Amino acid sequence: MRKSFPAEDLARDERFVRVPLTARMADARQVPREATGKRRNGGRLTPDRPDSPEAARVLMHGIFTGEIQALEGAGRTCWDFNTENTARKRGGSDDATEAPAADAPEVPFQLKLDMARQCWDEARHTEISCKLGDHMGTYIGEFAEGTFLYEAACNPDPVLRLTGVNRALEGLAIDVFNTMREFGDVSGDPVLEFCEDWMLADEVTHVKMGSDWLRRLTEKDPERRERALEFQRVVDRLFSLGGFRGEEEDSPVRLARRFRELAGFDTGEIDELAEVAREAREDAENMIRQNREAFAEQAPTT
Ligand SMILES: [Fe+2]
Ligand SMILES: [Fe+2]
Repeated sequence: MRKSFPAEDLARDERFVRVPLTARMADARQVPREATGKRRNGGRLTPDRPDSPEAARVLMHGIFTGEIQALEGAGRTCWDFNTENTARKRGGSDDATEAPAADAPEVPFQLKLDMARQCWDEARHTEISCKLGDHMGTYIGEFAEGTFLYEAACNPDPVLRLTGVNRALEGLAIDVFNTMREFGDVSGDPVLEFCEDWMLADEVTHVKMGSDWLRRLTEKDPERRERALEFQRVVDRLFSLGGFRGEEEDSPVRLARRFRELAGFDTGEIDELAEVAREAREDAENMIRQNREAFAEQAPTT
């Protein structure tokens, strides 16, 4: 078994299409807000938006690929680290190839149990999301898959891994599922509403696991805690996706404050997240403007 498993080697069949996140964000075809008077991500997801079925399908496809990678990431965390048991096994007569690398960090066995429970949840979410995709009229591969979630799940420090994935990315899943649940409600689609509600409940548990393990494992190591929180900030910033998630009235995905609290975030952390989202929105709009200006300069004038 390899010590790390690169995202390029994840098992996917020919239906899946991959696009790097940087290529997506730098796409010059995106229209800046000042050109249209509307925000670039189309604004809040409501049934009166003419493109809402398409926008909901894009979001649903992203949730589906995110669920697969959350399963793969939690599965890796069950494997990649030692526990007291694996250390003992390596020293005993059992086949040591079944254990992680000898120099892999050690984690409590209970953390692995939490990750195993998460695998079970994510496998169920993958099936639900695949069926919801069918229900909403999309299909596997209609939209591209980015692999950043899995890449964050490859961090060699288990605390950074759980902070980046469970707190930052699954925290985003809370915001996305809550948005989709509300969209199901206002658009009169109980299948969407209740499926998202069930998955949302699980995601609150996964984020809470990240919050609890971060606090427990860094109780006596403030430097490691700060490194983990910094990693979370980087991931949060990247995944605020240019204002895709925020607290403004027209944010496509709203920061779900109440569910964040249930998942172990305090008010200061939620406020900081809202600020990160505001900055990410400004950065993205500046980047799109610069890309368009550069494109206009290069374009032939005749
Ligand atoms: Fe999930
Ligand atoms: Fe999850």
